[in-house]
Amino acid sequence: MHPVLVAPSLLACDFGHLHDEIRRAEAAGADWHHLDVMDGHFVDNISFGPAFVEASAAAARIPVDTHLMISRPDHYLGRFTKTSRNITIHVESDCDVSATLRAIRAAGCTCGISLRPGTPFSAIETHLDSVDLVLVMTVEPGFGGQAFQPAMLEKVRSAARLRSQKNLSYRIQVDGGINAETGAQSVAAGADTLVAGTSVFREPDMASAIATLKG
Ligand code: DX5
Ligand code: ZN
Repeated sequence: MHPVLVAPSLLACDFGHLHDEIRRAEAAGADWHHLDVMDGHFVDNISFGPAFVEASAAAARIPVDTHLMISRPDHYLGRFTKTSRNITIHVESDCDVSATLRAIRAAGCTCGISLRPGTPFSAIETHLDSVDLVLVMTVEPGFGGQAFQPAMLEKVRSAARLRSQKNLSYRIQVDGGINAETGAQSVAAGADTLVAGTSVFREPDMASAIATLKG
């Protein structure tokens, strides 16, 4: 339905050379920059906040895709809307999810809904007709470099099946442990947007890593 896009996660880049890493990802064929914001509450890690996203967006020539792994996305939303093209929030976050998704669109961004590996797909079903993207987490959110959880492919299939049943058009994104092999499995299950940190930034030939992910 959608062409496969690759969104390298800047969490895995060399923060000391952020501008160069952004250029390197773009030159290698990245479609979006994926920015993982973590608050130390929603997940057991603190990554970076609005200032880092702003610095990335200022350097970026492709869309910024912001993944909010924070407890109160409704409260912090306004600090990301000017710098992001898409903003994804978690269904498990401590806010009115429907209202927050509407607020993201009202601010001029596209919106995504995500769920942790332990959350059943049914938890996001009521939001499917209000989102531009469904992000199926294929690892427990919080850290890069973890192993892909194959059981999550069933959620990707559910997202694809319901999209066609309901005549919707959201993108289906996977995030966590994505490499050539797990990326291909995800695309076969219906994913069209691949987030990859380690397998892209730690690969000397980034262009070939991205080309392989795109199939
Ligand atoms: C995990 C983040 C991911 C992570 C992916 O909480 O949402 O975007 O950076 O990293 P890899 O590809 O290394 O699993
Ligand atoms: Zn992410």
